[in-house]
Amino acid sequence: MSTEWTTEMRYRPYHQWDEETRQQLITQQKQSPWHLSYHIQPNSGLLNDPNGFSYFNGRWHLFYQLYPFGPVHGLKSWYHLSSTNLVDWQEEEHGLLPDTPYDSHGVYSGTAIPVDDRLLLAYTGNVRDEEWTRYSYQLGAWMDQDNQISKIEAPLIPAPPAGYTTHFRDPQVIAYEQGYLLIIGAQNEQEEGKVLVYQGPSVTDWTLIGELNFTKDSMGFMVECPNLVFIDQRPVLIFCPQGMDKTVAYYDNIYPNMVVIGDKLDVENVAITNPTPLQNLDAGFDVYATQAFNAPDGRVLSVGWAGLPELAYPTDAEGWAHCLTLVRELSIKDNRLYQQPAIEHQELRQEALNVQGTLNKAQTVVQENKENCYELSIRLSANSQGTLSLFADEQKNHCFALHFDAKHGKISLDRSQVSLPLNTEFGQTRTVALPENQAIDLHIFVDQSICEIFVNDGQHVLTSRVFPQAGETNLFIEGTGEYTGTYWKLRSSSQN
Ligand code: FRU
Repeated sequence: MSTEWTTEMRYRPYHQWDEETRQQLITQQKQSPWHLSYHIQPNSGLLNDPNGFSYFNGRWHLFYQLYPFGPVHGLKSWYHLSSTNLVDWQEEEHGLLPDTPYDSHGVYSGTAIPVDDRLLLAYTGNVRDEEWTRYSYQLGAWMDQDNQISKIEAPLIPAPPAGYTTHFRDPQVIAYEQGYLLIIGAQNEQEEGKVLVYQGPSVTDWTLIGELNFTKDSMGFMVECPNLVFIDQRPVLIFCPQGMDKTVAYYDNIYPNMVVIGDKLDVENVAITNPTPLQNLDAGFDVYATQAFNAPDGRVLSVGWAGLPELAYPTDAEGWAHCLTLVRELSIKDNRLYQQPAIEHQELRQEALNVQGTLNKAQTVVQENKENCYELSIRLSANSQGTLSLFADEQKNHCFALHFDAKHGKISLDRSQVSLPLNTEFGQTRTVALPENQAIDLHIFVDQSICEIFVNDGQHVLTSRVFPQAGETNLFIEGTGEYTGTYWKLRSSSQN
């Protein structure tokens, strides 16, 4: 099925679509061989950024950017899920629809924060006029204890400040001292990407305090989805620079998701002091728009979009696109950000199988792996070299290969042998350097059409979409050295 998506179609109001179209899309998504078992995915259409990740009224809340009527970036809304365990999600239906003059062309990304007994949703209202000129409003809505949402009538911030274009979006509100800070992605009139900071005594009263100083380098033409969290009291800025020169920090994907860690947040000077160089948040093929927050239980949790802007994916032909990553817990070690799957994911585990052996030519780790729905924790010895083949057919004509070389300290993901190659213009390998002559710990989550690999206790993470054909469920390991680990079948989560 290929549809020519005109602008008129993409921005057609939701009520003008007939229910039958939506139902067909829902059925198609459910029947897709790439339908995920335990990752958050759209029932129909396109999912992109996670929004409003928060804890409120005894539950985790998570929204995502949704265009429900096809696999394209059209008229966006926030779709709402809630959970008690970060693994099983309950559908709360639409959280925010594009239904006011301030968000007529899209309820764009934003965040949520509990204020007294309500949850504030802060987001960008995207508006276009007849000439298709863009306007950007920063808006608010209140969600009460019954999950009823009402939009705040007046914009929180009615326009970009002087000197900035209408590429001004994705507000994050955090509590700071007796009041609040609002962090937002922006572009100045010289078309340079910036992060701006507002301060206010309440969440409806904002004053610009300046551009956040967190690097001396140019961040390209736009910064999307900036968010600031505190880990061990240190500020950690997660953001997506677009068009950044690769000499600033190397990346392979169309746009990277980056992170900077500082010593402290200096609000007087609107600066992150002593920032680290930019680090890639994820070394895989498909991550963007990660959103993190300081949870009330003391953890810093994040979730990302396992997809990238402007690129096509094989599910487009089935009328849907993308999923979110697993929820991750963030920490800092040796001045680097570490990411681990939230502990709650252990609730998905079914029976455990020990796997171990001496590597030689082509052998199976787990016999008869019939479904791409598992977790594998594996240690490769300090002298090991070889290949772990995921999503492989029996003859291993096709697979998603992870080459490892503990001796020389390197792992490399290779997507060139998968049966449905995608976005090959951005390269087919992703490589991470590791310490030499040290065992490598891999913690791998495979779910139908995604693979998330946590390396050495979360020092690196590689998230990638893979679209296997029927029968491409085998798992082989070959090489030299020793391996030992555990394999778990995983159950589906309740949203799926
Ligand atoms: C990032 C982004 C945001 C915007 C949203 C619109 O993927 O472009 O900057 O708010 O997506 O869906």
